[in-house]
Amino acid sequence: MNVIDAIKTRQSCRNFNGEKPPLELLNEIAELALLCPSACNSQPWKIYLVYDNEKVEEVAKSTQDLGMNKFASNAGAFFVVADQNAKLMIGAGLKFDQNHFVKYDVGELIAYLTLLCKEKGLETCILGWVNDKKLKNAVNYSDNEVCNVVIAVGYSDIPLRKKVRKPASEKIVVI
Ligand SMILES: Cc1cc2nc3c(=O)[nH]c(=O)nc-3n(C[C@H](O)[C@H](O)[C@H](O)COP(=O)(O)O)c2cc1C
Repeated sequence: MNVIDAIKTRQSCRNFNGEKPPLELLNEIAELALLCPSACNSQPWKIYLVYDNEKVEEVAKSTQDLGMNKFASNAGAFFVVADQNAKLMIGAGLKFDQNHFVKYDVGELIAYLTLLCKEKGLETCILGWVNDKKLKNAVNYSDNEVCNVVIAVGYSDIPLRKKVRKPASEKIVVI
């Protein structure tokens, strides 16, 4: 699969079949995703690869407040992505707040993770509906990290949906 095919066929999966991807495969994906770019190469992130079945269920539960994201219980694993404090190079550090680019950096990482999963035959759903307290209990991430999203990962054979997007003409301005 090339990048264009991965972009065209990645879709949020809400019908995982419960099958667990091999840990080695998830680890390989996480390592490749770490090749993504970040401001000043600051790499202000950590990936918690949640694989243990009890922990997987705990993370799923942390996304299910108010009856949301029930399908997350059928994911095989989660990538929990943590933002860390960035340390920019001196010039950039003078101009910008140290954490000015962190959300962009972590967004890059998430995009890499989801597209790599697609390339490797796995489906994903990015979940932002997260209860911080439950997620921290499950993952025990450090106090100076922030986890705003988790990525559910697993298998599914749901057919490709039509992409619903605003017209490119509204979103691309050629000057
Ligand atoms: C930051 C972020 C948070 C999201 N949170 C959720 C979520 O909690 N539950 C869910 O079902 N989908 C969630 N999504 C998936 C979006 O709804 C989905 O990406 C969007 O509707 C486009 O559909 P597609 O991913 O199938 O192309 C989230 C996506 C992003 C990028």
